[in-house]
Amino acid sequence: MKAIQIHAFGGADVLQIDELPSPLLEADHVIVRSQAAGVNPIDWKTREGGGVASLSNGLPLILGWEMAGVVESASSEVTIFQPGDEVMGLLNFPQPGRCYAEEVSANAAHLVHKPDNISFVEAAALPLAGLTAWQALHDYAHLRAGQRVLILAAAGGVGHLAVQFAKQAGAEVIAVASERNHDYLRQLGADACIDYWKVELQDAIRDVDIVLDGVGGSSGVKALAVLKHDGVLVTLPSKTAEEVVEAASQHGYRATGMRVFPSADQLQEIADLVEAGKVRVEVSATFPFQQVREAHQLSASGRVRGKIVLTF
Ligand SMILES: NC(=O)c1ccc[n+]([C@@H]2O[C@H](COP(=O)([O-])OP(=O)(O)OC[C@H]3O[C@@H](n4cnc5c(N)ncnc54)[C@H](OP(=O)(O)O)[C@@H]3O)[C@@H](O)[C@H]2O)c1
Repeated sequence: MKAIQIHAFGGADVLQIDELPSPLLEADHVIVRSQAAGVNPIDWKTREGGGVASLSNGLPLILGWEMAGVVESASSEVTIFQPGDEVMGLLNFPQPGRCYAEEVSANAAHLVHKPDNISFVEAAALPLAGLTAWQALHDYAHLRAGQRVLILAAAGGVGHLAVQFAKQAGAEVIAVASERNHDYLRQLGADACIDYWKVELQDAIRDVDIVLDGVGGSSGVKALAVLKHDGVLVTLPSKTAEEVVEAASQHGYRATGMRVFPSADQLQEIADLVEAGKVRVEVSATFPFQQVREAHQLSASGRVRGKIVLTF
């Protein structure tokens, strides 16, 4: 099978296509013939030697943590998936997921059946960003109906799903994004939009219960000022999480970092919302896997609406 590997940490040119043996079928696992794999910022951060590179058990490394495809074979312990089933999942995170490959070994506990009403490309875009948004809002911020939620990087992979999940949960949603994304975010359910290029957040909004910070660093620190006294900010970029949490504790706010984890139960809840037509996943660019370098460069631009997907 073909897989995209890195043999050194570095720029996009370290991504190369190698011919490798098919993965072996382990206990509790299935082999999936991948149709598509999602590209996330963690992919290029790890490629550069940051991200979760320190957890990668050395090089060479197959990047990629989410995919959708068709089950080829299943170990005898696995009863819920059969060959031919269409599946999707966030695999092994933060250990290597090895999803940038034509065939992927997947722990059955990390998979769900693909909703019938979306393509493999859309399904591959859903698990990592979806579970991040879900866990941030529900596990970390304990979102309740009627709360006011502000989402930084609302048009991005995590943000556009968080807008919809928060709306579904009965929240008032304020989306922070460039103006060109405001109509789009209103269509997804945002009640109000703020253009961070033109307005300082604390001049535009106050009394927020939950900030979902998809930007981090000084933007995350500044966003603390919009919180209610008992509000909470969940910051996503791990590199700056300590800085944001430290600033929060100095100024009497509550903030927390997080790390997404695979959960078939939560992914099933997300899949049910998608299947019911209540949530949609936006894929703004697809690349054949041979163009993975271009996909990484686009992701690193920080300007993507929704998700980028590689096709196999
Ligand atoms: N801790 C975890 O477990 C975890 C999990 C997933 C992701 N993350 C991290 O969370 C961050 C977001 O991930 P993602 O996949 O959503 O990223 P993404 O899709 O690459 O985000 C792109 C979006 O960021 C927006 N943006 C850039 N600078 C901004 C700013 N200063 N204020 C507001 N929006 C800004 C852009 O919006 P406009 O085009 O509208 O300007 C663009 O739509 C990344 O750093 C990622 O590594 C962490």
